[in-house]
Formats: sequence, structure tokens, C-alpha cells
Amino acid sequence: MGIQISPSMLSADFANLEAEAKRIPGADWLHVDVMDNHFVPNLTLGVPVLEALARVAEQPIDAHLMIEDPDRWAPAFIDAGATSVTFHIEAAKDPVRLARQIRAKDARAAMALKPATPIEPYKDLLRELDMVLIMTVEPGFGGQKFLDNCLPKIRRTRQLLDKTGGDIWLQVDGGVSLETIDRCAEAGADVFVAGSAVFGADVPDDMVTELRTRAQHHSCLG
Ligand code: DX5
Ligand code: ZN
Repeated sequence: MGIQISPSMLSADFANLEAEAKRIPGADWLHVDVMDNHFVPNLTLGVPVLEALARVAEQPIDAHLMIEDPDRWAPAFIDAGATSVTFHIEAAKDPVRLARQIRAKDARAAMALKPATPIEPYKDLLRELDMVLIMTVEPGFGGQKFLDNCLPKIRRTRQLLDKTGGDIWLQVDGGVSLETIDRCAEAGADVFVAGSAVFGADVPDDMVTELRTRAQHHSCLG
């Protein structure tokens, strides 16, 4: 599939989500951060807002569920228009059933790991997934500093994905910018979430292009 850029709408103007989506026509996805103030100490948006955005956006929606009980909520986000649904493994009660449920509804199933969660216990789960998200900040807020100590896990996850086969994408989220994207690409990531870097730029769509070019240049993938 190659390098993909998924700007996080958390850094967009929530009063003008349609207009903000139109500022980034070059984005492959719109990354939507759902937070419940239980799994993370922040509260953002839920099914109705995602549904409203999906109705007007050209880009597919990449929903990142930072919530307790994703098993219960994931189907509703697909019905609302999410094309990809990411649940946190730390919150999922029955991840195999959840991933299968997501795929059965024709969405992409993805598993996210917080910075301190290792990938190795979940290697047998990979074949159930379409994407793994390695968080490079503690989830909860945009604009945080990239955690370099997550890079070895990105590398190890890339190796496990190569061993598993298929076309499972490897996403990174948190502190991704022109300064840090090369390290992530070298480690084997191929889908890049960027919030403050994109929406903090004068021309967000130019930043999408710059991030993509930089990641392509440094990618360790063929
Ligand atoms: C953080 C969210 C991220 C966040 C990224 O918990 O999952 O998607 O919006 O923002 P930046 O790119 O500013 O770190
Ligand atoms: Zn996110």
C-alpha cells in the first residue's frame, strides 16, 4: 500500500470539522480520536460527531478508540461511517472476537498499544488484524513530545508483521512531525498520524505532502 498519512482531527477546529477536512485533500485518512475520560484522562467526541464528519468528508475515517469497553462500542462507530477501527489491547475484553466482529462489518480491524505495552504477547493475534498502532506518546492529548524509547518496539513489530505475512499496516501516533517521521519510517512504520504538525502548519495539505515525501525517503520497506 505504501506510505500513508492520517492527520489527527484532534488538532483541527472542532467548530469547523467539514472545512478542516477540506484543507487536507491529500490526506489518505482522517484520524478521529475518541476519548471517554476513563481509558484516558480526556473527553473528546463520540458516535454522533464521527457520523457527521463521515457524512461530509471525502477521506475515509480512521477511528482511534481510546475508551473502555471497545467490544461494546466498535460496531456503532462502523455503522457511523468509520472504515478502520482501532481498539486498545489494554481495554479490549475479547480481542479476537472484537477483531472478527469489526472485519465482519467490512471495516479494517486495528489494535493499539500504549508506550509501556509490549507487542510480543500478542503475536498470535496479528493474523486477525489489518493494522497495529504503536503509540509514541501516552494517549490522551495532542501536541506531546515524541517518545524515542518506542522505536525498538516499532522495529520488533515490523519483524513480527513480516513473519506473519499478509498486508498488515503499522501505524504510529503521537509527536509525529518532520523532525521525527524519518525515525519512524526507518523503524518500519507505514501509516503516520500527525495532529499538531499538520494543523499547526500554515498550509496543512503541504505538510501532508512533506511528511509523506520524508517518510518515503526514509522508509525501510521496499
Ligand atoms: C493522542 C492521540 C493522537 C494525537 C496526536 O492520544 O491519539 O492522535 O491527536 O497529536 P500530535 O500529532 O499532535 O501528537
Ligand atoms: Zn490517535
